[in-house]
Amino acid sequence: MSREPQVRRVLVSGGSRGIGLRIAHAFHEEGNAVALLARDAEQLERAARSFGGDGQRMLTVAADVRSSQSVEAAVARTVEGLGGIDILVNTAAAPADQLVNRPIAEFDEDSLRAELETKTLGYLRTIKFVAPHFIAQRWGRIINIGGQSVRHTGSIAATVRNAAISALTKNVADELGSYSVTANVVHPGFTVTERTPELLEGIAVRTNSTVEEARKRLEATTSNRKLNTADDIAALVVFLASERGSVINGEALHAGGGVAGSIFSY
Ligand SMILES: NC(=O)c1ccc[n+]([C@@H]2O[C@H](COP(=O)([O-])OP(=O)(O)OC[C@H]3O[C@@H](n4cnc5c(N)ncnc54)[C@H](OP(=O)(O)O)[C@@H]3O)[C@@H](O)[C@H]2O)c1
Repeated sequence: MSREPQVRRVLVSGGSRGIGLRIAHAFHEEGNAVALLARDAEQLERAARSFGGDGQRMLTVAADVRSSQSVEAAVARTVEGLGGIDILVNTAAAPADQLVNRPIAEFDEDSLRAELETKTLGYLRTIKFVAPHFIAQRWGRIINIGGQSVRHTGSIAATVRNAAISALTKNVADELGSYSVTANVVHPGFTVTERTPELLEGIAVRTNSTVEEARKRLEATTSNRKLNTADDIAALVVFLASERGSVINGEALHAGGGVAGSIFSY
């Protein structure tokens, strides 16, 4: 079995906060070099400071994944700054709780178009501009973050964008597999990030309950009876990106501590 090389170069779209930032930290803690991609330069600056001023193994790239030109420039800047690119992690998306769901008769087509522009085409764009580097070096890892709502009705946009990510991932895996490039999708369940306290407060208000009750209800939806943390997701992503993870390709991995009451494992 090949050993892990000392340093891999990792681009994380949506790396300025939440799950993406935690994934970037996990790679960095293992000695890798990371580039954080997001739109808001100030937030990127704050995220950069959380790496303790390590300008050697981290950089930020302000870019909008809705623009092909912007993504092409961001990948070029990453390759220039880190000396190449080995691992791409896509997380950039609008938060699911901001997706408005309406009955089909009132469905707003533009809202779905907007979601697909970021979470499906945005992922495809980063893959498109990173893939030539992976092919040239005959090694690469792509991990796309979807969402467990792919298995639930309730939000057409949330379901469709995550199902599209699964299909995209499998196509990429089949096309690039012969170059020792793997592509997998991780579908997290509800995951604790810095936004969670605010989210729980919102749920508590809407359901006329306390924050603790709202949290307990969410925990009860999982087999583990607890919520994922962004660290849990990061650990899985780092494994998939490792040499040891090479046998897993084109898969959709559900990472939510199990969906209580449903049988999805056959
Ligand atoms: N947290 C959960 O419970 C959960 C559960 C299941 C799945 N997920 C999925 O996991 C991923 C991360 O979720 P999160 O909760 O960590 O999200 P988050 O905290 O809202 O962070 C989203 C990141 O994406 C960036 N982003 C958004 N639109 C962008 C664009 N057009 N171009 C470039 N960057 C963009 C944001 O920065 P800017 O706004 O500055 O661009 C930010 O860095 C998403 O795909 C989400 O659907 C999350």
